[in-house]
Amino acid sequence: MKLNKHWLNQLPKLELHLHLEGSLEPELMFALAKRNQINLPFTSIEAVREAYEFNNLQDFLDIYYQGANVLLHEDDFYDLTWAYLEQCHAQNVIHVEPFFDPQTHTDRGVPFATVINGISRALMDGEAQLGISSELIMCFLRHLDEEAAFATLAMAEPFLDKIIAVGLDSSEDGNPPEKFSRVFAKARELGLLTVAHAGEEGPAEYVWTAIKDLQVSRIDHGVRSVEDAELIRHLAATRMPLTVCPLSNTKLCVFDDMAKHNILEMLEQGVCVTVNSDDPAYFGGYMTENFIALADGLGLQREQALKLVSNSIAASFADVDRKQAMQLLIEQFEDEH
Ligand code: ADE
Ligand code: ZN
Repeated sequence: MKLNKHWLNQLPKLELHLHLEGSLEPELMFALAKRNQINLPFTSIEAVREAYEFNNLQDFLDIYYQGANVLLHEDDFYDLTWAYLEQCHAQNVIHVEPFFDPQTHTDRGVPFATVINGISRALMDGEAQLGISSELIMCFLRHLDEEAAFATLAMAEPFLDKIIAVGLDSSEDGNPPEKFSRVFAKARELGLLTVAHAGEEGPAEYVWTAIKDLQVSRIDHGVRSVEDAELIRHLAATRMPLTVCPLSNTKLCVFDDMAKHNILEMLEQGVCVTVNSDDPAYFGGYMTENFIALADGLGLQREQALKLVSNSIAASFADVDRKQAMQLLIEQFEDEH
């Protein structure tokens, strides 16, 4: 039986792979452009949505970095984060670990403090007013060099109480994880956890080097791991989580059809896969829509959906008490629905 959309919306969920800049809806983009007197290269909200046709990751990144230009002031980062949290609340997402890309903003002259203070204030309000717990992850842009990543880490040092981990995103091919071995080592010395995008467009080899050289706690995407049977066995044996993003993968042509997505195949192989939305404003959906896409395209079953959420709890950076409370919420939901 096909899973009901209402059931999927009510299912308590966690999101571990979400770029805040990728949650910028065209409506907010236009409102911020007006507030900040910035000219957009689009004539209407509809024209923005029509431009969201991508053949690959780079096609998307070009338009994504352009969209972020409307973010200038602390309140802009607050409004962006708050809008995302409202979406989470409407979809019963109870815990989030968003990414932000400081270099996209500091390279335009926006101070690091402006970015992180706006985001953190919204995350605190999200916890107090919506009951959504959160941890924040700072990503380095891998198409830029190691020196720029070190400079970004230095900017973050006064704010380390607001950041749980560093991550690695942007153009994957040709920018292997090991390019950032030294900066990730420094981040770990500072007490930060590490994650990295790997095996999205890049090869399975990048998943290995993210694990070995960057000592990550999770792999973001990792869908190309299936090309290496030994890697799949390693991921399953170590319960290394993969934060998979189904709608992102079809929008960016990593898979040409959801029916060909490998998330459930990896779940059956014992890999700790999780469901996430990546850049929901660009890819056609938030958490619930990603679960619906799996139900429609792959025939996702109730037990699999519950397992995917339990995997997210295990994979999250929440403390033990919060993890227990979230697992109880899932069990209660299972009993009642
Ligand atoms: N930045 C935002 N979304 C991304 C993705 N899917 N891959 C790499 N970098 C990103
Ligand atoms: Zn991503």
